[in-house]
Amino acid sequence: MGDAEYLLSIETSCDETSAAIVRRDRHVLSNIVATQFELHERFGGVVPEIASRAHLERILPVIDEAVRQAGISLTGVGVVAVATHPGLVGSLLVGLTAAKSLSLALDVPLVTVNHVAAHLYACRMAAGADIFPAIGFVVSGGHTHLFDCRSAVEMDLLGCTIDDAAGEAFDKVAQILGLEYPGGPQIERLARDGNSAAFSFARTFLHEPALRFSFSGLKTAVLYAARGTPGSRTPVPELTTSRIQDLAASFQAAAIDVLIGKCEQALKQTGRRTLCVGGGVAANGAFRSALEEMVSRLGVRLVLAPREFCTDNAAMMALGWEYYERGLLAAFDTDVIPGLMRS
Ligand code: KG4
Ligand code: ZN
Repeated sequence: MGDAEYLLSIETSCDETSAAIVRRDRHVLSNIVATQFELHERFGGVVPEIASRAHLERILPVIDEAVRQAGISLTGVGVVAVATHPGLVGSLLVGLTAAKSLSLALDVPLVTVNHVAAHLYACRMAAGADIFPAIGFVVSGGHTHLFDCRSAVEMDLLGCTIDDAAGEAFDKVAQILGLEYPGGPQIERLARDGNSAAFSFARTFLHEPALRFSFSGLKTAVLYAARGTPGSRTPVPELTTSRIQDLAASFQAAAIDVLIGKCEQALKQTGRRTLCVGGGVAANGAFRSALEEMVSRLGVRLVLAPREFCTDNAAMMALGWEYYERGLLAAFDTDVIPGLMRS
């Protein structure tokens, strides 16, 4: 184990360019996140080529700002951590190239981190102490993945979505309802004034023991409820604000029921006594409340990622310290592993 004091982490896996400085005791000194919402909004989703070009423009100013806000000098950085998988190939490459260059120039070790595992490490950061072993649940725009986490760096996939991720379903439903991108926060806002029992959407896989999810049927059900079923002659009511609110509330309730049900099954099947939840959808207030209710019924511990560390950020990449402390350093020929995490 080396004697580094400050870790510089870099996160560019999707559409946020982020850099953070995290002290060895996991105290976050800075966490700069440059979002790209405005670049992708008119396309209703992330355009990979636009994302990687924007990362290229922003990466150096973002790193500079992280170092400046932390009040250290670049030469004070003792280890560089970077997300190399999963994600968009061009986006990941910008972060990895910056991280390798800095590691070489500063002559400090490089560690590579799994972005999905880092979402769970945001929970460990909030707890201020080790939380593993635990069931880890990542609910984001790309992933709906349940893990049995033996430690911060050892996790087995218990199950995941077979089609859309939960956050992706929030984004697509928001698009159907004519809301802004990213849709999750918009759906949450509108659902507050809607009737969650107005539409009875299916809870796919809820009553089967397999730990898997499917959200594409739910998304299609919302589409048909909003615009009518293809081939049907029944006229669809106008999409008024109150109908949009009811659709948002009914969709959100169906999605949350399944997310909660599968967490509960994972806890019961494994006997783990701690549940940690991270990823963009974990910022959703209704989901957070439902999780609190479920764990108090089961008598298990819940560690939620703080809201500001739910969506993509580099602070959660303090997970890099766990690799550094175990001597798990990356070689310079290390490459990105694009795509989604499948196993
Ligand atoms: O973790 P994240 O920033 O990026 C990925 O790694 O995918 O998650 C982004 C996703 C988006 O789909 C967004 O709509 C969703 O998280 N999200 C939410 C909320 N805030 C963000 N979904 C539901 N409710 C929210 N409040
Ligand atoms: Zn993410």
